[in-house]
Amino acid sequence: LYRERLAFAYSGYVRRDPTALLGLRPGRDDPYAIYERMRHQGDLVPTWLGNWSTTSHRICDAVLRDRRFGVRPEGEPMPPSEGVNLSFLEMNPPDHTRLRRLAQPAFSPRQVAGYGPRIERTVAGLLDRAPAEFDLVSAYAAPLPIAVITDLLGVPDARTDQFARYGTVIGGAIDGIRSLPHALRLQAARGELDALFRDLFALRRAEPADDIVSRIVAAEGDQVRPDEMLPMCILLLVAGFETTVNLIGNAVNALLDHPDQWKKLCADPETMAEKAIEETLRFDPPVQRTYRVALEPLELEGTPVRKGQYVATYIGGANRDPRAWADPGRFDIEREQTADHLAFSSGIHYCVGQPLARLEAVIALRALAQRRPDLRRAGRIRRRASTTIRGPLRLPVRGAGRP
Ligand code: HEM
Repeated sequence: LYRERLAFAYSGYVRRDPTALLGLRPGRDDPYAIYERMRHQGDLVPTWLGNWSTTSHRICDAVLRDRRFGVRPEGEPMPPSEGVNLSFLEMNPPDHTRLRRLAQPAFSPRQVAGYGPRIERTVAGLLDRAPAEFDLVSAYAAPLPIAVITDLLGVPDARTDQFARYGTVIGGAIDGIRSLPHALRLQAARGELDALFRDLFALRRAEPADDIVSRIVAAEGDQVRPDEMLPMCILLLVAGFETTVNLIGNAVNALLDHPDQWKKLCADPETMAEKAIEETLRFDPPVQRTYRVALEPLELEGTPVRKGQYVATYIGGANRDPRAWADPGRFDIEREQTADHLAFSSGIHYCVGQPLARLEAVIALRALAQRRPDLRRAGRIRRRASTTIRGPLRLPVRGAGRP
């Protein structure tokens, strides 16, 4: 089963994906209608590969918190090196605990608050440069997390463009390799990124700074093995980039679909930006699902789950569970959040970067509402072809804004 999951992850998106069976064409259709169909079939639905899937908020949360589940079966090796090895995101304790502990201080409240002024400056610069009509993704949502993550990792300014390009190729492969040219592009990007990080490791061994790469090289041989350093940096790059771009994109997209909500935001951006981001994280989360595998035989809601069986936890479905939120299909930035959404997962893999992601998205949305309150669509949204990561590839908008 693990091989099947690997094959799914590495061999292209929909064919082995349970949502494909339910009729979801990646990127084009509304996955939420499919989640509702799944919900009608029950809280725990068997998949055609002999695994389980769930859109129940309660069960998703319980599985993600349950230590009898892991992200990989015990004793299985990490994915092959030609794939994308995402470090501790794909590890169970104790390795997960050891490596996560090394990354965690970079996201402490003090460190994250320190990024505020840099984020404000980046956002202001992007809005200064954006013409009246622009693509919200390439001109606004994407450059921001790249600037932040390169700062966090301490990538020298001269190399940030290269870094962003490789990061995009690698991030785009999370859902699987689609073709031979895609595999070759991925391999080339990996090679370039390896070289870039090797230079960075050497630099930080010689000249330590107050960044996470310096902390990683200082822990080398003690808390982190040499072969674990690169995947950890790639995880921070990929996890911190793709997801945040999509959160900003999904927020603006939902607000443009609901002009009354955009108006509410613009009337009071200082307080409403944060609420709008929280509602977007619930309503249209960038990460739509994750998986856990049973590490031992167990019972889930009275259903026996065998050791080695996977449970696909549909975050996008759980976030619209009517037992957790009233009228969950309604986008309402003033809604009372009656449950904790699962956009950042739950349990021991709960997103380590979430304070930073929230800060980036809130500042970006607030500035947009303040400076371009007349924002509207200037063309059709183009979505990414993925059923795991949801967000726009292109979101043409127009808004001349205030002089
Ligand atoms: C883990 C979502 C931003 C770094 C996760 C997981 C989710 C997630 C769902 C857990 C997956 C699972 O349980 O299988 C998001 C979303 C983001 C975001 C929606 C933005 C809106 C960031 C940022 C960073 C980051 C900005 C870092 C710069 C990580 C890392 C993990 C993680 C390192 C692995 C945690 C672990 O395995 O213990 N994220 N993330 N994320 N995220 Fe994020």
